[in-house]
Amino acid sequence: MEQKDAIRQELGSLHGIPLFKSFIEGWPQVKAFKARPDDLLISTYPKSCTTWLSEIMDMIYHDGNVEKCRRDAIYNRVPFLEMKVSKGLSGELPQWPLSLSPSGLVGRRHHSVPLKHILGSPQIVYMARNPKDVVISYYFFHQMAMIHPDPGTKAEFLENFMAGKVAYGSWYDHVREWWEKRQEKKILYLFYEDMKKDPRREVQKILQFLGKELAEGTVERILHHTSFQEMKKNPAANYETMLPTLMDHSLSLPLPPERWGISGDWKNHFTVAQNERFNQHYQEHMAGSDLHFQMEV
Ligand code: A3P
Repeated sequence: MEQKDAIRQELGSLHGIPLFKSFIEGWPQVKAFKARPDDLLISTYPKSCTTWLSEIMDMIYHDGNVEKCRRDAIYNRVPFLEMKVSKGLSGELPQWPLSLSPSGLVGRRHHSVPLKHILGSPQIVYMARNPKDVVISYYFFHQMAMIHPDPGTKAEFLENFMAGKVAYGSWYDHVREWWEKRQEKKILYLFYEDMKKDPRREVQKILQFLGKELAEGTVERILHHTSFQEMKKNPAANYETMLPTLMDHSLSLPLPPERWGISGDWKNHFTVAQNERFNQHYQEHMAGSDLHFQMEV
């Protein structure tokens, strides 16, 4: 599929989950992918800080070497497994099929189709974020990232999100499926809100999970390099290298500091009625689960 054909297209459906048609086209290759046991896979629902976690992981895998982590754009250093466009996101040659990076850091995926399709037995770090911030972040991202269908109004988008009629489907199914899976697989389940509150503690959790020790001072360097302010001005992390046909940079970059990268921004966007309705919907869809979210920190 040509890039121009992927712009503002309606979504297709894969295993009943709404997804970009270009990604569905590439799915057989994802299915054929076999991870090695020491590979690491990052999984998130969209807008749950995939980029932040990816940058942290790349820094960990490169022992906090900032220069090495500037070698390429984040979407090439830690590619999306299901991404398939005729050219790379910045217009260079296609990076498909995926090759395993020598660091063992394989990639990230948003999809929640049955894991057995693509996973050998890699280590997986999952990051979840509260749905109110996710939906607002996702709405603004739809405006910038042209691969998505037109999001309509905020109210319309909220309805679609609650109904799971957005790319990658239901947030509830995604976060709950991985929460259950963590019992049986080698999965570290993290929360964006915890990461915001205490990034040092969360990075330590990741290191413990990976069984990795870093030299003194390295964690400090990782925290500094992956802070919002640093990532925002880092072209290898902030997506500014992505083609303007795919990403409307005028809407996203530089990221306005007053809105981006904070927790609880949904309060500036939800009406009282929308919040009440959302809370009701949330309770119904999370019933019976011991998975809990902090709606702000
Ligand atoms: P907002 O849109 O709420 O600002 P993803 O990488 O999965 O697309 O998620 C994007 C969200 O992660 C955006 O949220 C973005 O601001 C936030 N984010 C990215 N890097 C961050 C960082 N270093 N610290 C905190 N938040 C970050």
